[in-house]
Amino acid sequence: MRWMTSCLGAFVVATAAVTSPVLAEQAVLPAASGLGELARQRGVQLGTAVALDPLETEASYRDRLAREFASVVAENAMKFEFLQPEIGLFDFRQADRLVNFAAEQQMQVRGHTLVWHWALPDWLEDRNWSRDELLAILKYHIKTVVGRYRGDIVVWDVVNEAIAKDGTLRDTLWLRGIGPEYIELAFRWAHEADPDALLIYNDFGNEGFNAKSDAIYQLVRSLLEKGVPIHGVGLQMHLRADRPPDPSEVAANFERFADLGLQVQITEIDVRIRQPSRAGDLERQAQIYRDMLQVCLQAENCTSFTTWGFTDRHSWVPTHFEGWGEALIFDKNYQPKPAYRSLLEVLSETQAEP
Ligand code: XIL
Repeated sequence: MRWMTSCLGAFVVATAAVTSPVLAEQAVLPAASGLGELARQRGVQLGTAVALDPLETEASYRDRLAREFASVVAENAMKFEFLQPEIGLFDFRQADRLVNFAAEQQMQVRGHTLVWHWALPDWLEDRNWSRDELLAILKYHIKTVVGRYRGDIVVWDVVNEAIAKDGTLRDTLWLRGIGPEYIELAFRWAHEADPDALLIYNDFGNEGFNAKSDAIYQLVRSLLEKGVPIHGVGLQMHLRADRPPDPSEVAANFERFADLGLQVQITEIDVRIRQPSRAGDLERQAQIYRDMLQVCLQAENCTSFTTWGFTDRHSWVPTHFEGWGEALIFDKNYQPKPAYRSLLEVLSETQAEP
């Protein structure tokens, strides 16, 4: 283990913050006045996942983003393989661009994600590491990344997707190499690196009550009992327009986490439509967005509503779910869809309440 630590220490390169010339020129945009501002008044951070390419090359992308959202998360740029492409060599350029953009726009930044079985660099996956080596790698990664953005990134998805559909721990490199303790260690290290950051366990398929959401509940409860610094549960909510979750069940699920003193955050919502879409699909989709935002606004412990992208022009859905698309709230030409209007309506209605 000692060789590992010293080797890592010797090779770390923390690249300087680089502001892209494109961003610097066009950074003066109006502060958020759309959905994000309305939601902020209700105590919810309304945000979206951001892809760095269109952020740098498309003015319409930047404008919509700046006008409508109060918070951003990197769609990919803060994942392990992007931040640490070589052992001990960190590349923060893309992540820094997003953090700088957010600072200029006075937006909050969510950090995503420190520990996941996906988006790992080849150097990490292609070798059999000893337990001590893996512990050193994970600790070093978390401390370096969280430490770098201490104060700038106020909430981290510390562990992502650690539980399988049947409620058992997912078989991952981290579980195999370290054992179940990797989860609590990750939270402890993140907390040491930034004691003020809000630390989240994030997963999908956990909107209502099922084996997985029950297992997540048991996991976070046992972490709390052990004194592990965890502050909330993230619900990704990659949903289908033809399978709406039951809003009252989602609300009840949120409540059991509130009873543990935990926040909940909707971290990656999108609502995909089978292609080609049919009459009524966009309205069904709008209803789901509306219901989920409503549940969040009504739950005192729900603090974030984040969409996984905002324009159908740039969405992971068509590439990852063959035959599906149109999952977001703006169309390919950045025009608002019924889903956008449903969010605006909910925020306006709620605002009128005492
Ligand atoms: C996705 C990105 O959107 C894609 O661009 C990438 O190819 C794969 O990852 N759950 C998560 C996100 O936590 O990080 C994933 O993002 C979507 C599912």
